[in-house]
Amino acid sequence: MKTTLINQLPKAELHMHIEGSLEPELMFALAERNGITLPYESVDALKALYDFNNLQEFLDIYYAGVSVLQTEQDFYDLAWAYLERAKADHVVHTEIFFDPQSHTDRGIAFDVVINGLHQAFSDAQQELGISFHVIACFLRHLPEQDALDLYPEIVKHRDKIIGIGLDSSELGHPPEKYQQVFSQAKKDGFKVVAHAGEEGPADYVRQAIELLKVDRIDHGNRCLDDGELTRQIAESGLALTVCPLSNLKLKVVSDLQEHPIKDMLAKGLIATLNSDDPAYFGGYVNDNFQQLAAAVGLDNDEIITLVENSFRASFLPESVKEAHISAVQ
Ligand code: ADE
Ligand code: ZN
Repeated sequence: MKTTLINQLPKAELHMHIEGSLEPELMFALAERNGITLPYESVDALKALYDFNNLQEFLDIYYAGVSVLQTEQDFYDLAWAYLERAKADHVVHTEIFFDPQSHTDRGIAFDVVINGLHQAFSDAQQELGISFHVIACFLRHLPEQDALDLYPEIVKHRDKIIGIGLDSSELGHPPEKYQQVFSQAKKDGFKVVAHAGEEGPADYVRQAIELLKVDRIDHGNRCLDDGELTRQIAESGLALTVCPLSNLKLKVVSDLQEHPIKDMLAKGLIATLNSDDPAYFGGYVNDNFQQLAAAVGLDNDEIITLVENSFRASFLPESVKEAHISAVQ
């Protein structure tokens, strides 16, 4: 019953790293196409490594995986594979992240990455009826100067990029480290988002709001440790892009039954459900809804609220959001 409701509802996905949708089978196929030898014997040997104790253990494998992405066609194929999966989950709008520095730092031109991705998303809009926005994320374990050096490339492609984000290793890399580039992006009219409160403390969420002036918070779980901050976020209507299976795989929660989603909704937070890095965390967006609903007992109203929130929290124009929300009811 819940499964049918979840599958049938048109939804938006707002937190998905395109590099995190690289399935092991495609990783091996692209390695072969590009004459790269992966340090894993087989797809199964690689999958056996997908057993993480924290964010960093995952990131080490995730950054190794992107080495197979070399040409525009590779980025196209990566994005297309995600889009077909998204279509099957009745995703009608997606706002995806990509990590330019994970490619430019190994000599792949920014143009190659963005042009391949953009072509796939444009084709999907025509052929699959999925609208899209693209967000370029800075890797927070690198110096802010690297982000400032990359920023002109993002501006050059501003017709294809709606906003900037902040991801990678959170602990020890607080949002305050990125104030210059975020304030420039904000001045230039980009949307700005940041991963905050995934492994980092509530104070990182506060910094993302007060110092980076984010338009949305990615994850945000740890804001719940600070009652006053949680109340402020709920009152301001700032949305959280929550990723249940990611939280489980990266041990942000010890058990899906312990996931705080109901608490978030009860406290008036605009929470949304997303897949983060579906190829690594065992499920796409509907799997996240289904497994979470079963674990914490989401009722139909909560499921509908989460889906409506996915449009409410998107960067679509208000009139388009309204049209999508009416289609959910
Ligand atoms: N990059 C890809 N997935 C991420 C996550 N869950 N947290 C931080 N950086 C990421
Ligand atoms: Zn993420």
